[in-house]
Order: sequence, then C-alpha cells, then structure tokens
Amino acid sequence: MSMRINLDQNDNVHPSTPGKIKIENRSYSLFFHRHIQRFLASTTPLIPWFVFIISLIAIFYTFNTPFPTHPQSYSSHDIQWEKKVRSSANPRRKDGHIVLVTGVAGFVGAHVSLALVKRGDGVVGLDNFNSYYDPSLKKARRDLLWSHGVFVVDGDLNDGALLNLLFDVVAFTHVIHLAAQAGVRYAIENPSSYIHSNIAGLVSLLESCKTADPQPAVIWASSSSVYGLNEKVPFSESDLTDRPASLYAATKKAGEEITHTYNHIYGLSITGLRFFTVYGPWGRPDMAYFSFTRNILQGKPITIYRGKDRVDLARDFTYIDDIVKGCLGALDTATKSTGSVGSGKRKKSGPAMYRIFNLGNTNPVTVPTLVALLEKHLKMKAKKNWLEMPGNGDVPYTNANITKAKKEIGYKPSTDLNTGLRKFVKWYLSYYGYSNKWNKNS
Ligand SMILES: *[C@@H]1O[C@H](CO)[C@@H](O)[C@H](O)[C@H]1NC(C)=O
Repeated sequence: MSMRINLDQNDNVHPSTPGKIKIENRSYSLFFHRHIQRFLASTTPLIPWFVFIISLIAIFYTFNTPFPTHPQSYSSHDIQWEKKVRSSANPRRKDGHIVLVTGVAGFVGAHVSLALVKRGDGVVGLDNFNSYYDPSLKKARRDLLWSHGVFVVDGDLNDGALLNLLFDVVAFTHVIHLAAQAGVRYAIENPSSYIHSNIAGLVSLLESCKTADPQPAVIWASSSSVYGLNEKVPFSESDLTDRPASLYAATKKAGEEITHTYNHIYGLSITGLRFFTVYGPWGRPDMAYFSFTRNILQGKPITIYRGKDRVDLARDFTYIDDIVKGCLGALDTATKSTGSVGSGKRKKSGPAMYRIFNLGNTNPVTVPTLVALLEKHLKMKAKKNWLEMPGNGDVPYTNANITKAKKEIGYKPSTDLNTGLRKFVKWYLSYYGYSNKWNKNS
C-alpha cells in the first residue's frame, strides 16, 4: 500500500493555537486604550516620515536581494520539511505533472524546473550542492527557484532512505534526472566522483523509482559524448556508441544500459536525452564559453585547443531554452511505467517505453568563431594562446542528427549561437556586477 499522507491531514498537525492573552480587567483595558490614543496623537505627525523610511528600506532590499533566500534545509524527519515538499509538489493546473528534478540547482535542472513550475506543474528539487564548481552559483539558482515556489531538498542520490521517503511523501508522476558529475577533463583528477554520481547514484535513484507506487516515468540526461571516437557525422541515435573517449562518456553510456535493464525488468518508462554542449544564462562555469568570458573580462589569456594539423575544434552548441523545450517535449510524450512492486509482488503489465534522443542544434561552430562572437558582445579582445588538444577526453567535432527528436517529441531548436551568446553575456555582466561599469564605458 502507498504510504502517502493525505494532503489535507497536514492542516491538523498544528491546530491553530487559541489566543492566550485575554485582558479580563476592564479598567486596565481602558487605561491601556487611553495610553494608546495619547501615543498615537503624539506620533501622528511622524507617520509620513515613518512610511517614507520603511519605503526606503523596502526599496533597498528589493534591489539588493534579487530573490528571497531558500529556507535552511530541514531534517527530513521534520514535519515542516514534509509540508514544504508536499506544497512544492502540488500542481497549479488541472492534470499537472508532479515532477522530481534531480540536480535541480544545476544549469539545466534550474531552467527545466522554472519552465515546469511556470506552466503549473508541481516540482520538488534535489541537489547535493557539491563543490565541483562554485556552490554559490548553485545557491543563487536555488533561491531563484524558491522565489517561484520550488523547494529544494539538500541531499545525495546515494541516500536511498531519503529517496524512498520522498516517494512515500509524494506520488511523483515523473522524474527528470539531471544530477551528474559533469565535465570531461576532471575525471583525470577525480575518477571516483563519476562512479559515485553517474553510476551508483543512478542505480540508487532507479531502485527507488522501481519500488515507488505509482512508478514514475524517468527522463534523464545522457550525453553527446557517448558518440566518442565516431567519425561519421551527423551523429544519429542508431550509431554504435562503444568507443567512449572519456570516463565521463563511459559512465553516461553505462547509464543508457543500466536504465535499459530497469526498463526491461521492472517496466520503468525511460527517456534518455543526449545533450550537445548546452550553454546560456546561469550556465556552468567549467565550460569553455563561460571561462573564456571570465578571462576576457579580467584581461587574462584564454587557451584555445586545436586538433591535429591545426584543425579547429567545433561544437554543436545548443541554447538552454531549446534544451528545456526538448526536456518538456520528452516529458509530455513519455508514457507511464508499467511495473508495480509496491505491493511486494513484482508485476509488469507490459513492456514500457524506452527511448533515446539527440538534443543538439545541428549547426556546429568552431571554437575561434565562438571566441570572436564573445569578443563582439563583450566589446573586448581576447588574449589567445593556441595549444594542440591533449588526448584527455575531448573529441574534435560534434554534430547532432535531430530527425528523431523532431518527429517524436516536437523538438525544434530556434536559437543560433550569436543570439544565445548575446543573452549569456547580458546575464553574465549583470550577475557578476559588471553592468554599471559597462554602461559607463560603452
Ligand atoms: C538521421 O536520423 C534518421 C533517423 O531518425 C535517419 O533516418 C537518417 O538517415 C539520419 N540522417 C543522416 C544524415 O544520418
């Protein structure tokens, strides 16, 4: 049986406290009343000043704290925690989805969650706020989400008890799984973090999804890096993906196979999305376009890698809003999971959906062109160092075939790199406080 708790019961947990302060003595009350009148009479001329000062304070805070800070994370055994989780999960439209988004304080997770909540779906977020890159950016994204009513649970995918508790408290219809150890080169420093998040964390999540009643449909982030050393372009979903060039790619490829197992045995509905170099406002600081922007603004040199024979590297840069539309398209077309193990007996009513889609832009751009566009939008020149690409996981070229995603989930990217970078630079300058200086200079 489901252990879900009726939403209405919540109100009975803290019965409203009847007023404790009662002034019984009438003469005392009169005395009190007169004093208040006298006080008001003497302060009346000050009221406009008072209002003025309060307004000033309000204006100060409006412009200095862009978003209300997310409440400190409660212990998951706390009734306040459950209240927050349930209210965040509550859809604001009829037949709205109820979605758990992992990696919610990440780049794609935050954007997808905002889009879901804006159209009335219920969203609960999960993130472990690890320090792979500046956690203050993740916390700012969390505060932005909170200003739209999305509650973020501070926890790790590998905490199976926490995941099970979440599925007991909320009957999620979908899970959008975006939590992962990203980045290609970081695997040389910290290989085990890829195993911890992308393999062990994934299995932990799927175990909870499998036993949840009802089982959610799972949409998750694979990666274009699974195409590895493939030379045939564009990359199509039916191409072989057995020659990964990095540990990151290998763990994403493993994820495609692990999710297939859970689809096959337990009837979980699975959609894997192979993202191609996603960029945009609130992006990841470890990505080249982001660190190039930072260095150009600080007058520091940037390193541009080139392939063999000085061939420029090229990427199928995909703007975040297009990726968000792809994620929502995948969510809206996912059919239900078909398994049920909640009752203790494992049953599968039939095969469940298993899909994989490329989400790219189909227009690869070389890194020097990317830099030229950044220089244009920043109105500054980059100091460039050219280096031959070391064999540490990067591939020279990516280009997506998106025919399948177009046909089956209505995916249609519409933002070119120039437009997307203009929006990114605008966000960057404002977020890092360059805007004022900027307007004076230009
Ligand atoms: C793109 O993928 C589709 C399948 O979705 C396939 O039919 C088509 O041949 C592919 N195009 C190219 C140029 O590889």
